[in-house]
Amino acid sequence: MASHNWQISFFMRTPGVVAILLGSLLVSSAFAQSPTYGVGRTPTAEELRRMDISIGFAGEELPPGRGTAKEGAQLYMQKACVGCHGVTGIGGLAPILRSKLDNADTLPVWKKERILPLRAPSATVVWDFINRGMPLGLEGTLKPDEVYSLTAYLLFLNKVIPEDQVLTRENLPKVKMPIGDAYGKPHEFKVNAPRLEGYPY
Ligand code: HEC
Repeated sequence: MASHNWQISFFMRTPGVVAILLGSLLVSSAFAQSPTYGVGRTPTAEELRRMDISIGFAGEELPPGRGTAKEGAQLYMQKACVGCHGVTGIGGLAPILRSKLDNADTLPVWKKERILPLRAPSATVVWDFINRGMPLGLEGTLKPDEVYSLTAYLLFLNKVIPEDQVLTRENLPKVKMPIGDAYGKPHEFKVNAPRLEGYPY
């Protein structure tokens, strides 16, 4: 009798069991298709291409191209860099692009002003910044040759490269920046050295 009751009660429950199984199948297939929240969309290949522009120190991602400081000087006027950064990089409302100090090239690295084409760890960073962010308001409009030329111009203004150097994808990562390896080094620690001026503890 006991087993008979059990069979009845099992079959009576069966539709419920099936419903639960079906339900969980539906839920899992819904997850497999990934839920949609009605927010955002998949970027197009073209949009991804425009965003995927980071240039590393080794410069492997750089596009082919070339440019000189002389060409850069003309572009600096034509592309309105001068309007924000001033004549030859000084005197505008935007940050200066050239050292105001005559002897910037002889100063120890941490005494140099904070100017990207002077203190960047690699010349590829200067290229990347101009390519990605300038001219402000019209970012992304410069062609590779124009970015090579503007980079050459700003590096020349800061006495990092000679005026006649042609910058290319191959030699840009090899430009020796004044900061050398110092950007990665912590300040030297000496036992019993006095605390930094103004340090509160
Ligand atoms: C509408 C104004 C404007 C124009 C035009 C413009 N810039 Fe800039 N630029 C700025 C501002 C503002 C900053 C600071 C941005 C920041 O720090 O985030 C800047 C920063 C820079 C820097 C980094 C400076 C540093 O030391 O950190 C470089 C290099 C630069 N601009 C190059 C250019 C070049 C080359 C052009 C022309 C193709 C150009 N800019 C056009 C406004 C402008």
